Amino acid sequence: MIRKIVVYPDKRLKQRSCEVVEFDSTLHTLLDDMNETMTAKNGIGLAAIQVGVPLRALLINLPDEEGEQYPENLIEVINPVIVDRRGSTTYTEGCLSVPEYYDDVERSEWVKVEFQDRYGEKKSIETDGLLAIAFQHEMDHLDGHLFIEKLSFLKRKKFEKEWKKKLKEMREKKK
Ligand code: CO
Repeated sequence: MIRKIVVYPDKRLKQRSCEVVEFDSTLHTLLDDMNETMTAKNGIGLAAIQVGVPLRALLINLPDEEGEQYPENLIEVINPVIVDRRGSTTYTEGCLSVPEYYDDVERSEWVKVEFQDRYGEKKSIETDGLLAIAFQHEMDHLDGHLFIEKLSFLKRKKFEKEWKKKLKEMREKKK
């Protein structure tokens, strides 16, 4: 089932998500719904809070060079912790909760992440490139942070002004 995406400045996006303790059918349904929602919106990553569920769960599915997403490339990440990081890199990021806005963000180039899968099995991944960036972006959601918080003061100010205008236009379209 496709769920509704929580859009900025909804306050829920600022909350810290809770640790997953039950690896049960409710969690599995959530993960399946998140995948359906992410795929429908052409996203490469999605955190549970973005569908309004404050749990430390996220998905990543990076497309190949042709932009195609394959189900077998889906990574389900529960209770992740970055245990090591190196270097720095800049990438133009976007977010399904801040639709159609993209900007450059600096993050660690390489990360080692420990997490659990949907059955509670412990996993570990060492990665760089877009996957490392996606992990960091999605994990920020679990702590109530968005990539726009990393913008410079002036860029953020400009963004807020444009965003207000955009929300107003969206509301007027609905009337
Ligand atoms: Co995001």
